[in-house]
Amino acid sequence: MPDDAPLQRRKLFIKSFGCQMNAYDAQRMADMLRPEGYEQAQTAQDADLIVLNTCHIRERATEKVYSELGMLREMKDQRSMTANPLRVAVAGCVAQAEGAEIFRRTDLVDLVVGPQSYHHLPQQLRDVARGQRVIETEFPVDDKFAHLAAPQPDAIARRGLSAFVTVQEGCDKFCSFCVVPYTRGMEVSRPLAAIVAEVERLAQHGVREITLLGQNVNAWHGLAADGRKIGLAEVLARLADISGILRLRYTTSHPLDMDAGLIAAHRDLPQLMPFLHLPVQSGSDAVLKAMNRRHTSADYLDLVTRLRQARPDIALSSDFIVGFPGESEADFAATLALVEAVRFASTFFFKYSARPGTPGADLPDQVPEDVKIERLARLQQLVEAQRHAFNASMIGKSLPVLFEKPGRHAGQVTGKSPFMQPVHVEASPSTIGQQFDVIITSTSTNSLFGHIAAPSKLPD
Ligand code: SAH
Ligand code: SF4
Ligand code: F3S
Repeated sequence: MPDDAPLQRRKLFIKSFGCQMNAYDAQRMADMLRPEGYEQAQTAQDADLIVLNTCHIRERATEKVYSELGMLREMKDQRSMTANPLRVAVAGCVAQAEGAEIFRRTDLVDLVVGPQSYHHLPQQLRDVARGQRVIETEFPVDDKFAHLAAPQPDAIARRGLSAFVTVQEGCDKFCSFCVVPYTRGMEVSRPLAAIVAEVERLAQHGVREITLLGQNVNAWHGLAADGRKIGLAEVLARLADISGILRLRYTTSHPLDMDAGLIAAHRDLPQLMPFLHLPVQSGSDAVLKAMNRRHTSADYLDLVTRLRQARPDIALSSDFIVGFPGESEADFAATLALVEAVRFASTFFFKYSARPGTPGADLPDQVPEDVKIERLARLQQLVEAQRHAFNASMIGKSLPVLFEKPGRHAGQVTGKSPFMQPVHVEASPSTIGQQFDVIITSTSTNSLFGHIAAPSKLPD
């Protein structure tokens, strides 16, 4: 296409599944396609291009993608003979895992693109417009971060106050239940200079909170400007120096990579929020071993102690899998005991689902579905009680709240506590974009309510 050709205006609808990395990738895909004339559609019906940004983590993930695709059949057929055909792309981890099989199983898809090839989307879509079916799912070998080009200023402006920045991708841990090492490839860390440059740019455009993303984010490793080997703690320290950055977070971490430097960063960096998602998966050492987690429950409890020594108010969250093959009632009781011991602020829990191609899928002693359901319910009851207790413990406390947007009711603004809880306060919209101490007065199931501690410091 010649550079001076008029841009054809088109509408893009991205449906994302899965983790925060996918949510962030969806933003980046939209950023990349905007200069190509694609604007966001409100619904799939309005779109000229539908992207299914898929996740492969759960059982039947692939089948769900085919059934989502099936629902597009009518729309696609109706427009097939028009000047404006509907294009359909499958991106994300199912695209990576299934590859060309998607073309074999359905004629609905024009483009199959893996997470590490999104920077080629404009070219891929031009090829699609010429009537080709395009697939790209190779892992790049030379420039492993070409697909993570820093967003343009107009895209940054759309981020608001809080932005994700990918610093690490892939995983070498090979937990025996997990597909991520196969769909996202081996662990790679983005160079420090690129991370700093992106965060500086975000800060200049008004971003105040940064969440560093990676499938195994605390495995980040790289070099300082002087050539020293460094880890994530130094990245955080460097980012904390950037003017305008009020809050730093990182997710998701593996207990094995939680080194002393990173624990100390929770003591030393006021910008580093006292909230950490640190999945443990199980409290039973036998199950942890079978999961290839390479830590025991005692290791995890020791880590929690050290984190709380460094930052006494740190709140923890975790992922748990119930019903991993071989999990006995005693193993499950050990999980409940670990939950009791740690007291989590919030928790995600999943029934084990056998993922073809992972070692766990071939293990004997798969746990019957009704046992999994019953254990899940017991775990849920315990973690819900902990979450309520955690929220209730906020009443009477003063918490810094970063105000993000107008609240649901007139005269209300909404922000986030350091612990990710939404906080609603009666205050002027001029507080949005700033952080104020809020005295918490009440809670609902998911939110906190309160008033600004020092109204004299408020802007007019
Ligand atoms: N480290 C990753 C983990 C991705 S998977 C991250 O960046 O978030 C998220 C969670 O899904 C895991 O922690 C695990 O609890 C759960 N999970 C992964 N594979 C699973 C499976 N086969 N069955 C059930 N739960 C699973
Ligand atoms: Fe999956 Fe384990 Fe890697 Fe997390 S650490 S992405 S659970 S293999
Ligand atoms: Fe799912 Fe891929 Fe994320 S499998 S959890 S979208 S890394």
